Amino acid sequence: MDLAPRLNLITGDNGLGKSFLLDVAWWALTRRWPQDLNENLTSGYAARPTDAGKKATIEFSVESKVGRVGYESSYVPDEQSWLGKAGRPWNPGLVIYALADGGFAVWDPARNYWKRKGNVDIQDRVPAYIFSSKEVWDGLRVHIGDKTALVSNGLIADWVSWIREDGDDARRMASVLALLTSTVGGDGGLKPGDGFARLSVDDVRDIPTICMGYDQDVPVLYASLGVRRITALAYMLSWAWREHLIASKQLGQDRSSRVVMLFDEVEAHLHPRWQRAVVPALVDVAQRLTDDASASVQLIAATHSPLVLASVEPLFDVERDAWFDLDLVGRKVELRKRPFVRLGEVGNWLTSEAFDLAEPRSLEGERAVRAAREVLGTSRPSREQIEVADRQLHEAGLPDIDPFWVRWDYFVQQAKRDDMPEKQQ
Ligand SMILES: Nc1ncnc2c1ncn2[C@@H]1O[C@H](COP(=O)(O)OP(=O)(O)O)[C@@H](O)[C@H]1O
Ligand SMILES: [Mg+2]
Repeated sequence: MDLAPRLNLITGDNGLGKSFLLDVAWWALTRRWPQDLNENLTSGYAARPTDAGKKATIEFSVESKVGRVGYESSYVPDEQSWLGKAGRPWNPGLVIYALADGGFAVWDPARNYWKRKGNVDIQDRVPAYIFSSKEVWDGLRVHIGDKTALVSNGLIADWVSWIREDGDDARRMASVLALLTSTVGGDGGLKPGDGFARLSVDDVRDIPTICMGYDQDVPVLYASLGVRRITALAYMLSWAWREHLIASKQLGQDRSSRVVMLFDEVEAHLHPRWQRAVVPALVDVAQRLTDDASASVQLIAATHSPLVLASVEPLFDVERDAWFDLDLVGRKVELRKRPFVRLGEVGNWLTSEAFDLAEPRSLEGERAVRAAREVLGTSRPSREQIEVADRQLHEAGLPDIDPFWVRWDYFVQQAKRDDMPEKQQ
């Protein structure tokens, strides 16, 4: 898989390995499996070869601060782990992985990188920050040696305190949220509501609210799944960048000029309006966060949404972007880099190599249209064949506005006319 420097999209049927590829990409960048570091995750497991008797390897190269570095790792069944060259790994920049289960993994070059003590590379910092979806909201504690450290207060507490401080953090979070959710309607995207809410008299937490456009602001915990997903995303991006800035300063290092974002099912829970906006917005948000036009921002996203593919048509650049597709060929899964062709309407994407639907219709509609197309392709179909196909189209409930009717009605008219003289004879 030869990834492009900016945008990479992965499509393929359920179970063909999109998430797996993202897990391996995260591992290649950080050499940690998310689930190994946080057992609350329900995805991001370490890759396990199916046949322990066969040699299994993962080979890759990454662009790092010191140039391109190659690496090969083999699976050692005795140790149940992937081993390779020891020592200090590369610095891939800030890596953010949004898992499909709502969890997030963050690797920060300032906070998770290895340290040199004398001549030895040691990792005495947290290896990576892995949040289950609950921890994104409520905070995350990790063990470092025999101590436990609170590494994040969680979205609820952080957002409240950022809003109270009314400084850069609140502005960053608000602008990321607005950028991720602003659509053509010109509504300017989601905004925090006025003030905070309480859920019950027994719960002392102040809960941030979201302005949904109706009279009442909604406590973010009550917001719809789509709103919560995008708010969590805005928080994780804001949190990761904020903490990176603070840590870089503390350590006297430059901030990273490289950001890699991995997204599984990037459209999860989102309304089509947002599905269409999210990927271009993510590229934009990451570039703006770094506040550096020369920073390199790479996005690798798995998707099931034709809207996501249609949404990147205006920005897709073969030099910087790539589309990968997984297919079942016989009994093997194949990964192919496909030439990106602009298809315009979303329905065209559904019937493209990306989603492999025969017809962008209901199953019954597809069967009926397919049968009718067969009749269309027959050189002299009998009147009965035409009637059967016509009845099937009506029974499938193909609506009046379906474009197929234009062709079909014309064909039926023609067939009737051709039929006429025969009857008269
Ligand atoms: N950690 C793992 N180790 C080994 N095989 C895995 C692992 N995770 C997933 N797989 C295999 O990869 C297949 C694809 O899973 P997945 O990547 O979740 O599919 P997708 O995201 O495309 O729907 C699974 O059916 C399973 O056979
Ligand atoms: Mg998946």
